[in-house]
Amino acid sequence: MENRYGTLAAWVYHLDKPIGRSFGDIAFYRQRLKGCGGPILEPAAGNGRVLIPLLEAGLDMRGFDASPEMIALCREACVARGLPAPIDLQRFETFSYAERFAAVIVPAGSFQLLTEPESARAVLRRFHDALLPAGRLIVDLDPLSSLTDAPGAVRQWQAGEDVLTLREDRVARSFARQTTLSQLRYEHWRGGTLVASALELFHLRFWGLLEFELALREAGFSNIVVSGDYRHGCLPDEDAAVFTFEATAAV
Ligand SMILES: C[S@@+](CC[C@H](N)C(=O)[O-])C[C@H]1O[C@@H](n2cnc3c(N)ncnc32)[C@H](O)[C@@H]1O
Repeated sequence: MENRYGTLAAWVYHLDKPIGRSFGDIAFYRQRLKGCGGPILEPAAGNGRVLIPLLEAGLDMRGFDASPEMIALCREACVARGLPAPIDLQRFETFSYAERFAAVIVPAGSFQLLTEPESARAVLRRFHDALLPAGRLIVDLDPLSSLTDAPGAVRQWQAGEDVLTLREDRVARSFARQTTLSQLRYEHWRGGTLVASALELFHLRFWGLLEFELALREAGFSNIVVSGDYRHGCLPDEDAAVFTFEATAAV
């Protein structure tokens, strides 16, 4: 199964991107959501890296994720902080809530985990239908240039006596489909002995700026603003590392 975020992947994510670790995104989302008059949904909220600081800022957050292991880390971190843990096990493709949201946010390029364009377009419609009239969708995307990135390095993290390693190898890339497929090899070592290993397939799709804008319009969004590197309203330049789309659902 692709994009699984199983036990070792979730552990590595939590070591590499703990609660509150920001790439400029947390301050940006906090600012964009300031004074938001209603509940906010973060699909694919993972370990709560973004969700928990937004909860702590007083925002009325909900989240879901497809990985039970990521959800467990998020819940544990909420409990440790004496916060409610408003996260449940759901998927982009099928999520549903009784309430509607003032905003839906998808930081960290998680939308790109939807690699079939038809499925991605259906999810945009699902986001639209989950929003209150004039509710906002805010989505981060990596630039198309990431299609040519060449991973291959080994990274490692120390957690007490445990050492976690991750090797990423590109196994396929399609310019026609705008996708990359990588093998993620996780290992857990202790005292020089291999305790566990896991292989995950990591599949991403990259979007052109105009292509994503058209997909948003098709899903019923308007007032579309594209920003580069978390400078709201500043068009991305050639070197932008992240694009953020903000759009409004039809009234
Ligand atoms: C890059 S992490 C992002 C976590 C968090 N939003 C953040 O900004 O740190 C991507 C998350 O997407 C989740 N995910 C993958 N496929 C999913 C799907 N189809 N539906 C919901 N979540 C999914 C993974 O379990 C993982 O927690």
